[in-house]
Amino acid sequence: MTGPTSQSIHELVQTALDQLKDLDNAASLDQWRVAYLGRRGHLTQVLRGIAQLDVDQRREVGVLGNQAKRTLEESLVQRVDEVAHAQLEKAFTGDQLDVTLPGRPSSIGRLHPTTQIIREICDAFNTMGFNVVEGPEVEWDHYNFEMLNIPQGHPARDMWNTLWVDHPAPSDGRKMLMRTHTSPMQARVMEAAGPPIRVIVPGKCYRYEATDATHEWHFYQVEGLAVDKGITFADLKGTLYEFARRLFGDERRVRFRCDYFPFVEPGVDMSIDCFACHGEGTGCRVCRDSGWIEIMGAGMVHPKVLARVGYDPNIYTGFAFGLGPERIAMLKYGIDDIRLFYSNDLRFLRQF
Ligand code: DAH
Repeated sequence: MTGPTSQSIHELVQTALDQLKDLDNAASLDQWRVAYLGRRGHLTQVLRGIAQLDVDQRREVGVLGNQAKRTLEESLVQRVDEVAHAQLEKAFTGDQLDVTLPGRPSSIGRLHPTTQIIREICDAFNTMGFNVVEGPEVEWDHYNFEMLNIPQGHPARDMWNTLWVDHPAPSDGRKMLMRTHTSPMQARVMEAAGPPIRVIVPGKCYRYEATDATHEWHFYQVEGLAVDKGITFADLKGTLYEFARRLFGDERRVRFRCDYFPFVEPGVDMSIDCFACHGEGTGCRVCRDSGWIEIMGAGMVHPKVLARVGYDPNIYTGFAFGLGPERIAMLKYGIDDIRLFYSNDLRFLRQF
Protein backbone atom coordinates (compact mmCIF):
# COMPACT_ATOMS: atom_id res chain seq x y z
CA MET A 1 0.00 0.00 0.00
CA THR A 2 1.36 3.46 -0.92
CA GLY A 3 0.53 6.28 1.42
CA PRO A 4 2.03 9.72 1.72
CA THR A 5 5.59 10.01 2.97
CA SER A 6 7.47 12.82 4.60
CA GLN A 7 9.26 13.22 1.32
CA SER A 8 6.12 13.48 -0.81
CA ILE A 9 4.55 16.00 1.58
CA HIS A 10 7.69 18.07 1.52
CA GLU A 11 7.74 18.06 -2.28
CA LEU A 12 4.06 18.93 -2.48
CA VAL A 13 4.53 21.96 -0.23
CA GLN A 14 7.54 23.06 -2.27
CA THR A 15 5.65 22.87 -5.55
CA ALA A 16 2.64 24.64 -4.09
CA LEU A 17 4.72 27.49 -2.68
CA ASP A 18 6.69 27.83 -5.94
CA GLN A 19 3.43 28.27 -7.84
CA LEU A 20 1.94 30.59 -5.24
CA LYS A 21 4.69 33.20 -5.38
CA ASP A 22 4.02 33.78 -9.10
CA LEU A 23 0.30 34.33 -8.73
CA ASP A 24 -0.75 37.97 -8.93
CA ASN A 25 -4.50 38.18 -9.06
CA ALA A 26 -7.49 37.13 -7.01
CA ALA A 27 -8.82 34.59 -9.54
CA SER A 28 -5.58 32.58 -9.82
CA LEU A 29 -5.13 32.67 -6.05
CA ASP A 30 -8.54 31.17 -5.64
CA GLN A 31 -7.79 28.47 -8.19
CA TRP A 32 -4.63 27.64 -6.26
CA ARG A 33 -6.60 27.42 -3.03
CA VAL A 34 -9.06 24.97 -4.59
CA ALA A 35 -6.23 22.92 -6.17
CA TYR A 36 -4.37 22.38 -2.90
CA LEU A 37 -6.70 23.04 0.00
CA GLY A 38 -10.09 22.42 -1.58
CA ARG A 39 -12.14 19.32 -0.75
CA ARG A 40 -10.50 17.38 -3.57
CA GLY A 41 -7.27 19.34 -3.47
CA HIS A 42 -3.81 17.74 -3.49
CA LEU A 43 -3.04 18.30 0.15
CA THR A 44 -6.49 17.25 1.28
CA GLN A 45 -6.02 13.95 -0.55
CA VAL A 46 -2.64 13.47 1.07
CA LEU A 47 -4.07 14.09 4.53
CA ARG A 48 -6.80 11.57 3.87
CA GLY A 49 -4.17 8.99 2.85
CA ILE A 50 -2.48 9.27 6.25
CA ALA A 51 -5.24 7.18 7.79
CA GLN A 52 -4.08 4.24 5.72
CA LEU A 53 -0.51 4.31 6.99
CA ASP A 54 0.93 1.97 9.57
CA VAL A 55 0.53 3.18 13.07
CA ASP A 56 4.20 3.98 13.59
CA GLN A 57 4.39 6.11 10.41
CA ARG A 58 0.97 7.67 10.90
CA ARG A 59 2.08 9.80 13.79
CA GLU A 60 5.14 11.32 12.15
CA VAL A 61 3.54 11.88 8.74
CA GLY A 62 0.36 13.11 10.39
CA VAL A 63 2.25 15.88 12.20
CA LEU A 64 4.01 16.84 8.97
CA GLY A 65 0.72 16.82 7.06
CA ASN A 66 -0.90 19.20 9.54
CA GLN A 67 2.10 21.47 9.45
CA ALA A 68 1.94 21.46 5.65
CA LYS A 69 -1.70 22.49 5.77
CA ARG A 70 -0.95 25.36 8.10
CA THR A 71 1.99 26.47 5.96
CA LEU A 72 -0.13 26.55 2.79
CA GLU A 73 -3.01 28.35 4.49
CA GLU A 74 -0.77 30.99 6.03
CA SER A 75 1.19 31.47 2.82
CA LEU A 76 -2.05 31.96 0.93
CA VAL A 77 -3.27 34.65 3.34
CA GLN A 78 0.05 36.41 3.07
CA ARG A 79 0.10 36.27 -0.72
CA VAL A 80 -3.49 37.55 -0.97
CA ASP A 81 -2.39 40.46 1.16
CA GLU A 82 0.69 41.16 -0.95
CA VAL A 83 -1.29 41.05 -4.17
CA ALA A 84 -3.96 43.39 -2.82
CA HIS A 85 -1.32 45.79 -1.59
CA ALA A 86 0.56 45.74 -4.89
CA GLN A 87 -2.63 46.44 -6.80
CA LEU A 88 -3.43 49.37 -4.56
CA GLU A 89 0.03 50.77 -4.95
CA LYS A 90 -0.18 50.45 -8.70
CA ALA A 91 -3.50 52.27 -8.73
CA PHE A 92 -2.09 55.09 -6.63
CA THR A 93 1.25 55.51 -8.36
CA GLY A 94 0.27 54.79 -11.94
CA ASP A 95 -1.13 57.34 -14.35
CA GLN A 96 -4.53 57.19 -12.71
CA LEU A 97 -3.79 59.19 -9.61
CA ASP A 98 -1.18 61.72 -8.61
CA VAL A 99 -0.66 61.17 -4.90
CA THR A 100 1.24 64.43 -4.64
CA LEU A 101 -1.90 66.43 -5.43
CA PRO A 102 -3.36 68.22 -2.43
CA GLY A 103 -6.30 66.37 -0.87
CA ARG A 104 -9.88 67.31 -1.54
CA PRO A 105 -10.97 69.79 1.10
CA SER A 106 -13.76 68.43 3.26
CA SER A 107 -16.80 70.60 3.68
CA ILE A 108 -17.11 71.75 7.28
CA GLY A 109 -20.34 73.70 6.90
CA ARG A 110 -21.10 77.04 8.49
CA LEU A 111 -23.56 78.82 10.75
CA HIS A 112 -26.87 79.97 9.35
CA PRO A 113 -26.89 83.74 8.74
CA THR A 114 -29.66 84.13 11.34
CA THR A 115 -27.53 82.34 13.94
CA GLN A 116 -24.56 84.51 13.03
CA ILE A 117 -26.49 87.74 13.44
CA ILE A 118 -28.12 86.58 16.70
CA ARG A 119 -24.67 85.83 18.06
CA GLU A 120 -23.44 89.25 16.99
CA ILE A 121 -26.41 90.92 18.69
CA CYS A 122 -25.95 88.86 21.86
CA ASP A 123 -22.21 89.62 21.92
CA ALA A 124 -22.90 93.34 21.67
CA PHE A 125 -25.27 93.24 24.66
CA ASN A 126 -23.19 90.71 26.62
CA THR A 127 -20.33 93.15 26.79
CA MET A 128 -22.76 95.74 28.18
CA GLY A 129 -23.69 93.39 31.05
CA PHE A 130 -26.76 91.61 29.65
CA ASN A 131 -27.20 87.86 30.17
CA VAL A 132 -28.76 85.60 27.55
CA VAL A 133 -31.86 83.62 28.52
CA GLU A 134 -34.29 81.59 26.46
CA GLY A 135 -37.96 80.76 26.89
CA PRO A 136 -40.74 78.53 25.60
CA GLU A 137 -42.06 78.87 22.06
CA VAL A 138 -45.43 77.48 23.10
CA GLU A 139 -46.67 80.04 25.58
CA TRP A 140 -49.66 80.86 27.74
CA ASP A 141 -51.98 83.69 26.76
CA HIS A 142 -51.17 84.84 30.29
CA TYR A 143 -47.52 85.68 29.52
CA ASN A 144 -47.86 86.52 25.84
CA PHE A 145 -50.64 89.08 26.52
CA GLU A 146 -52.09 89.41 30.01
CA MET A 147 -48.87 90.07 31.89
CA LEU A 148 -47.86 92.55 29.21
CA ASN A 149 -50.84 94.76 29.89
CA ILE A 150 -52.85 93.39 26.96
CA PRO A 151 -56.03 91.99 28.55
CA GLN A 152 -58.60 89.78 26.82
CA GLY A 153 -60.56 91.80 24.27
CA HIS A 154 -58.02 94.67 24.19
CA PRO A 155 -57.79 96.07 20.66
CA ALA A 156 -53.97 95.92 20.85
CA ARG A 157 -54.25 92.13 20.55
CA ASP A 158 -54.84 92.76 16.85
CA MET A 159 -51.20 93.85 16.56
CA TRP A 160 -50.24 90.18 16.86
CA ASN A 161 -52.02 87.73 14.55
CA THR A 162 -51.95 84.73 16.78
CA LEU A 163 -51.63 81.01 16.13
CA TRP A 164 -53.61 79.41 18.96
CA VAL A 165 -52.74 75.96 20.17
CA ASP A 166 -55.74 73.66 19.96
CA HIS A 167 -55.22 72.10 23.36
CA PRO A 168 -57.98 71.00 25.73
CA ALA A 169 -58.28 73.92 28.12
CA PRO A 170 -56.93 72.99 31.54
CA SER A 171 -59.27 73.43 34.51
CA ASP A 172 -58.48 77.14 34.88
CA GLY A 173 -59.18 77.73 31.19
CA ARG A 174 -55.78 79.19 30.41
CA LYS A 175 -55.22 79.44 26.70
CA MET A 176 -52.08 78.36 24.89
CA LEU A 177 -50.52 79.83 21.77
CA MET A 178 -47.37 79.97 19.71
CA ARG A 179 -45.65 83.02 21.15
CA THR A 180 -46.07 86.00 18.86
CA HIS A 181 -43.04 87.81 20.28
CA THR A 182 -40.27 87.27 22.81
CA SER A 183 -41.73 89.89 25.17
CA PRO A 184 -43.50 87.28 27.37
CA MET A 185 -40.05 86.49 28.73
CA GLN A 186 -40.05 89.93 30.38
CA ALA A 187 -42.63 88.73 32.89
CA ARG A 188 -41.14 85.25 33.22
CA VAL A 189 -37.67 86.63 33.97
CA MET A 190 -38.97 89.20 36.47
CA GLU A 191 -41.02 86.53 38.24
CA ALA A 192 -38.06 84.18 38.44
CA ALA A 193 -35.49 86.70 39.66
CA GLY A 194 -35.52 89.95 41.55
CA PRO A 195 -34.00 93.19 40.31
CA PRO A 196 -31.51 94.21 39.09
CA ILE A 197 -32.22 92.53 35.76
CA ARG A 198 -30.32 92.78 32.51
CA VAL A 199 -31.25 90.11 29.99
CA ILE A 200 -31.57 89.54 26.31
CA VAL A 201 -33.79 86.80 24.97
CA PRO A 202 -33.21 85.47 21.46
CA GLY A 203 -35.86 83.08 20.18
CA LYS A 204 -38.34 81.93 17.61
CA CYS A 205 -41.77 83.57 17.24
CA TYR A 206 -44.84 82.69 15.20
CA ARG A 207 -47.70 84.64 13.63
CA TYR A 208 -50.79 83.83 11.64
CA GLU A 209 -49.50 85.73 8.67
CA ALA A 210 -49.43 85.50 4.88
CA THR A 211 -45.83 85.43 3.71
CA ASP A 212 -44.21 87.85 1.31
CA ALA A 213 -40.77 89.41 0.90
CA THR A 214 -40.97 91.16 4.27
CA HIS A 215 -43.29 88.86 6.24
CA GLU A 216 -42.77 85.33 7.51
CA TRP A 217 -45.13 83.31 9.69
CA HIS A 218 -42.12 82.23 11.76
CA PHE A 219 -39.12 84.42 12.52
CA TYR A 220 -36.72 85.32 15.30
CA GLN A 221 -36.77 88.16 17.77
CA VAL A 222 -34.30 89.34 20.34
CA GLU A 223 -35.93 90.86 23.40
CA GLY A 224 -34.06 92.99 25.90
CA LEU A 225 -34.94 94.02 29.45
CA ALA A 226 -33.17 96.07 32.09
CA VAL A 227 -34.83 96.77 35.44
CA ASP A 228 -33.26 98.44 38.44
CA LYS A 229 -33.60 101.44 40.73
CA GLY A 230 -33.14 104.70 38.88
CA ILE A 231 -33.13 103.51 35.28
CA THR A 232 -34.20 106.33 32.98
CA PHE A 233 -34.92 106.92 29.33
CA ALA A 234 -31.34 108.17 29.01
CA ASP A 235 -30.14 104.65 29.84
CA LEU A 236 -32.38 103.24 27.12
CA LYS A 237 -31.03 105.70 24.56
CA GLY A 238 -27.42 105.24 25.58
CA THR A 239 -27.58 101.45 25.52
CA LEU A 240 -29.38 101.18 22.20
CA TYR A 241 -27.22 103.85 20.61
CA GLU A 242 -24.11 101.92 21.62
CA PHE A 243 -25.64 98.72 20.24
CA ALA A 244 -26.41 100.38 16.88
CA ARG A 245 -22.84 101.61 16.58
CA ARG A 246 -21.40 98.20 17.38
CA LEU A 247 -23.53 96.47 14.77
CA PHE A 248 -23.75 99.11 12.06
CA GLY A 249 -20.59 101.16 12.47
CA ASP A 250 -19.21 103.95 14.65
CA GLU A 251 -20.54 106.82 12.59
CA ARG A 252 -24.20 105.70 12.96
CA ARG A 253 -26.77 108.21 14.15
CA VAL A 254 -30.00 107.15 15.81
CA ARG A 255 -33.52 108.52 15.91
CA PHE A 256 -36.26 107.79 18.41
CA ARG A 257 -39.90 108.43 17.60
CA CYS A 258 -43.03 107.84 19.64
CA ASP A 259 -44.69 104.50 19.07
CA TYR A 260 -47.29 102.46 20.89
CA PHE A 261 -46.74 99.13 22.60
CA PRO A 262 -49.05 98.31 25.51
CA PHE A 263 -46.23 97.13 27.77
CA VAL A 264 -44.09 100.29 27.63
CA GLU A 265 -44.70 103.92 28.43
CA PRO A 266 -43.39 105.90 26.70
CA GLY A 267 -42.92 103.58 23.72
CA VAL A 268 -40.63 104.35 20.82
CA ASP A 269 -39.33 103.01 17.60
CA MET A 270 -35.66 103.40 16.99
CA SER A 271 -34.14 104.09 13.61
CA ILE A 272 -30.56 104.40 12.41
CA ASP A 273 -29.46 106.70 9.64
CA CYS A 274 -29.33 104.76 6.40
CA PHE A 275 -25.86 103.32 5.88
CA ALA A 276 -26.47 102.95 2.15
CA CYS A 277 -27.20 106.61 1.38
CA HIS A 278 -25.77 108.08 4.62
CA GLY A 279 -29.10 109.63 5.45
CA GLU A 280 -29.46 111.36 2.07
CA GLY A 281 -32.72 109.53 1.34
CA THR A 282 -33.56 110.47 -2.20
CA GLY A 283 -33.51 107.53 -4.59
CA CYS A 284 -32.29 105.08 -1.93
CA ARG A 285 -33.74 101.57 -2.10
CA VAL A 286 -32.57 100.51 1.34
CA CYS A 287 -34.33 103.25 3.32
CA ARG A 288 -37.00 103.90 0.70
CA ASP A 289 -36.17 107.59 0.34
CA SER A 290 -36.47 108.44 4.02
CA GLY A 291 -32.82 108.43 5.09
CA TRP A 292 -33.76 106.41 8.18
CA ILE A 293 -34.21 102.69 8.85
CA GLU A 294 -36.36 101.38 11.69
CA ILE A 295 -34.57 98.66 13.57
CA MET A 296 -36.51 98.07 16.77
CA GLY A 297 -39.31 98.87 19.16
CA ALA A 298 -38.48 99.94 22.70
CA GLY A 299 -39.70 101.87 25.70
CA MET A 300 -39.79 102.28 29.46
CA VAL A 301 -41.38 99.25 31.10
CA HIS A 302 -45.01 100.08 31.87
CA PRO A 303 -45.69 100.52 35.61
CA LYS A 304 -48.55 98.03 35.30
CA VAL A 305 -46.18 95.38 33.95
CA LEU A 306 -43.83 95.92 36.89
CA ALA A 307 -46.72 95.84 39.35
CA ARG A 308 -48.09 92.58 37.92
CA VAL A 309 -44.87 90.74 38.73
CA GLY A 310 -44.80 92.30 42.20
CA TYR A 311 -42.18 95.00 41.63
CA ASP A 312 -43.00 98.39 43.13
CA PRO A 313 -43.04 100.82 40.16
CA ASN A 314 -42.30 103.66 42.56
CA ILE A 315 -38.96 102.07 43.36
CA TYR A 316 -38.04 100.23 40.19
CA THR A 317 -37.99 101.36 36.60
CA GLY A 318 -36.66 99.75 33.47
CA PHE A 319 -36.49 99.72 29.73
CA ALA A 320 -37.31 97.02 27.21
CA PHE A 321 -36.71 96.56 23.52
CA GLY A 322 -37.41 94.04 20.81
CA LEU A 323 -35.79 93.59 17.43
CA GLY A 324 -35.91 91.15 14.52
CA PRO A 325 -32.52 89.62 13.70
CA GLU A 326 -33.60 88.62 10.19
CA ARG A 327 -34.51 92.21 9.48
CA ILE A 328 -31.15 93.34 10.85
CA ALA A 329 -29.38 90.76 8.65
CA MET A 330 -31.43 91.91 5.64
CA LEU A 331 -30.33 95.48 6.22
CA LYS A 332 -26.74 94.59 6.93
CA TYR A 333 -26.24 92.29 3.95
CA GLY A 334 -28.74 93.77 1.48
CA ILE A 335 -31.04 90.70 1.45
CA ASP A 336 -34.35 91.59 -0.16
CA ASP A 337 -36.56 88.63 0.80
CA ILE A 338 -37.04 87.30 4.33
CA ARG A 339 -38.24 83.94 2.98
CA LEU A 340 -34.67 83.17 1.90
CA PHE A 341 -33.79 82.56 5.56
CA TYR A 342 -36.15 79.59 5.63
CA SER A 343 -35.77 78.20 2.11
CA ASN A 344 -32.62 76.10 2.79
CA ASP A 345 -31.21 77.18 -0.55
CA LEU A 346 -27.47 76.51 -0.43
CA ARG A 347 -26.78 79.15 -3.07
CA PHE A 348 -28.08 81.70 -0.56
CA LEU A 349 -26.63 80.16 2.59
CA ARG A 350 -23.11 79.74 1.17
CA GLN A 351 -22.77 83.49 0.83
CA PHE A 352 -22.44 83.92 4.59
N1 DAH B 1 -42.78 92.65 21.12
C1 DAH B 1 -42.90 93.71 20.17
C2 DAH B 1 -43.38 93.16 18.85
O1 DAH B 1 -43.33 91.99 18.63
C3 DAH B 1 -41.57 94.40 19.98
C4 DAH B 1 -41.23 95.25 21.17
C5 DAH B 1 -41.57 96.58 21.18
C6 DAH B 1 -40.61 94.71 22.26
C7 DAH B 1 -41.26 97.38 22.23
C8 DAH B 1 -40.30 95.50 23.35
C9 DAH B 1 -40.63 96.86 23.32
O2 DAH B 1 -39.69 95.04 24.44
O3 DAH B 1 -40.31 97.62 24.39
O4 DAH B 1 -43.86 93.90 18.05
